[in-house]
Amino acid sequence: MVNVLFVCLGNICRSPSAEGMFRALVEREGLDDHISTDSAGTGAYHTGNPPDGRAQAAARNRGVEIGDLRARQARREDFGEFQYVIAMDRSNRDDLLAICPADHEDRVHLFMDFASGTGQAEVPDPYYGGDGGFETVLDMLEDASRGLLAHIRATDLTGDR
Ligand code: 4NP
Repeated sequence: MVNVLFVCLGNICRSPSAEGMFRALVEREGLDDHISTDSAGTGAYHTGNPPDGRAQAAARNRGVEIGDLRARQARREDFGEFQYVIAMDRSNRDDLLAICPADHEDRVHLFMDFASGTGQAEVPDPYYGGDGGFETVLDMLEDASRGLLAHIRATDLTGDR
């Protein structure tokens, strides 16, 4: 099993949306027996909460359900359990590296490093903006999800998968 953890600050906007988009793609490709997903926040402010209502609505609009997800804080043990720890922005990545065991630092990535689009290195935080921010974020997450799945297929999944 390849375990993938998506991480942002609050775990109520970007990372559950990322998990939802990537999970939907994995299911569509019939790979859910091979790839598992989770998400977490570097902060604990929203522990136990479902994703922001705007994030749920934007995802549902694209046929992706994320209402089942609940926020939790990222922890040191995650770096042993997850082969991919995917940060939404540089600040998230820095906060992750601060609690990551040295021998697992290579598991920490910026999600946008897997995107095809030119330019943006970070997923912008839509929490304080309007609904339009969520659409932009979902476009970015959809693109990077395809890139990450292609990478995992090439790197971790063998045979004809
Ligand atoms: P997220 O957005 O990191 O994409 O989940 C945020 C949600 C809540 C807060 C910060 C960012 N907050 O400080 O409450």
